[in-house]
Order: sequence, then structure tokens, then C-alpha cells
Amino acid sequence: MTEARVTALRGVELNVFNLDESAEFYSKVWGLEFVAREGGVMYLRGGGAEHHILTLHEAPRASLHSINFAAQDARGVDALHAKMVGLGVEIVAAPKARSEIAGGGYGFSLRTPEGQVLTVSAGVSKQEHVFNDSSKPVKLSHIVLNVADIDKQNSFFCDTLGFRLSDSTERMDFVRCSSDHHSIALARGHGAGLNHMAYEVPSFDGLMRGAGRMKHGGYNIEWGVGRHGPGNNIFSYFVEPNGFVTEYTAEVEQIDEATHMAGMPEYWAKKMPMPDRWGMSMPSQRLREAMSGKFTEERNLRCEDIISRKMAG
Ligand SMILES: [Fe+2]
Repeated sequence: MTEARVTALRGVELNVFNLDESAEFYSKVWGLEFVAREGGVMYLRGGGAEHHILTLHEAPRASLHSINFAAQDARGVDALHAKMVGLGVEIVAAPKARSEIAGGGYGFSLRTPEGQVLTVSAGVSKQEHVFNDSSKPVKLSHIVLNVADIDKQNSFFCDTLGFRLSDSTERMDFVRCSSDHHSIALARGHGAGLNHMAYEVPSFDGLMRGAGRMKHGGYNIEWGVGRHGPGNNIFSYFVEPNGFVTEYTAEVEQIDEATHMAGMPEYWAKKMPMPDRWGMSMPSQRLREAMSGKFTEERNLRCEDIISRKMAG
């Protein structure tokens, strides 16, 4: 029977002020590969089979545009859409063939209670050739959202979209839609927004080589290299040209549905007094500010200034 739930994270879509600058960063430094460009929209892929994992939209302000998920098949898309309609969820686009999108497929879009647009699709073309460079991302691993009301957002992802709670700490709830420990995490504080996005690389060595490429490209590691508690994943965090936080991650815990028990905040507070299992690193102040959206907002103000000066002649 077709399940009315999300089955995997596909990718993320970002609004960016300068498309060429962002495309150069994500292809030459971050390690993605160009797939297609249609007007002011650019598609980039990782080394895995997903058609594209990052979509860049040229826009006056940088922001999270949307997050893309997979359903089992077209019937799964329709079943999930019917469930959303029944629950009164805001539908942004009804189910349809997505012929205007690179990779095509069939899908619909909805809005979370805190305003993020999520697209759920099936039947998207796959990449046949996979990369053989462990320093480059294979796929999008997870998105962390800042939330104003964590109970409401947790309930939306779990009860409405079919995610399951993997772990909960004082700061965050980690929820999964596949065997990956988390595809979405919800961070308390800062109001609604994008906290960070994480891309999976195939190995620890690959993560170190990717981090080295970033360092030589002028991007310091703002947190890491370290290993998280929930998810047990290795991490290194950076701030990209739009002020968004981006992470290389590896060795993400794979969940066994038959045996996994979610750890609650008291458990994690006792087990993990430090946010890095190795006790090696703490997030920089700059990273904390970037995770709150501060640098993206500052850059947006500068871009608005440029636009208004241009209009004034
Ligand atoms: Fe992360």
C-alpha cells in the first residue's frame, strides 16, 4: 500500500542576490557540479544519483526558497497531498507534472506553519554517472530550521508529514524520513529561518580534503572538525558568500527502526555536556551569528542599498 509520507530529502533551493557568485562558490569551492541553467535559476548536483541537490534562484534578497523531498511514487504524492488537504495544510502548488523543472517528475508544494515551502515529488530523473571524488558532496544530508514554536513544527513534521523523532536535546529536535538519523532538525530560538544546511561527503578523509579546499578558497572552519552527539556524524561548518551556514558531514548514524529509542534532553545533557563528542571544538561567535541569519540579513540590506542607488540613477 502506498504510504502518505515523505521518504527522503532531495535538495534545497536558495534565493541569492548574485547568481554567478553563488554558482562559482558552490561549483568551484564547495564541490557541486553544474547541471542546468534556465534564466535566473541554476541547478547543481552532488556525486550521487539525485538529479540535483541545490537550486539557486536569482532574487533581490537571499533567503531559503524551499526544501525538496521525495515520496515513494506518484500515488504517494497524491496520497500525501490528499492528507494535507484533509488536515487543512496550506497548499502552494497542487500536484502536477513538473516539466518546467530540470529533472521533471510529479509533485506538489505546501507551506509549514512557520512559512517554509516544502515540495514533495516522485519520478524525478536520476543521474547515471556518479562522482569518484570523496572530497565532494554526495547528497544533501540535512536542513536545520530555526523555529519560533518547536512543538508546533515538530508536530507538523512528525504527525502531518510522517517523520519520526530520532533524538531531542535542550536546543534541538532531530527528525527523520529515511534511515538517516535526521533529514530535518528544529532549533529553538531566533524565530523562524534557516539555521544551516549539511551536505554528506563519503568519508572522514573526504571531509578533511573538502575542508582543506574550503580553507584554500578563503573560508575558515567556523566549527570543527568534530563529531556530534545525536546522529554521531562528523562535521565541519563554514559561512558561504550569502551568509548561509553550510556543513560537510560524514558517517551519519543509520537508524534501525526495530531497535531505535529516541534520547530525550535529560539523556543528552548527561551524555554530552559538550556539543562535540571529541571535546575538540566549539562553534565560533561568527558561526552562531550566521546561524541566526544575521549575516544574510546584513548582506540583504547592502544589496537593497545597491538596488535603490541603481534605481535612483
Ligand atoms: Fe548539521
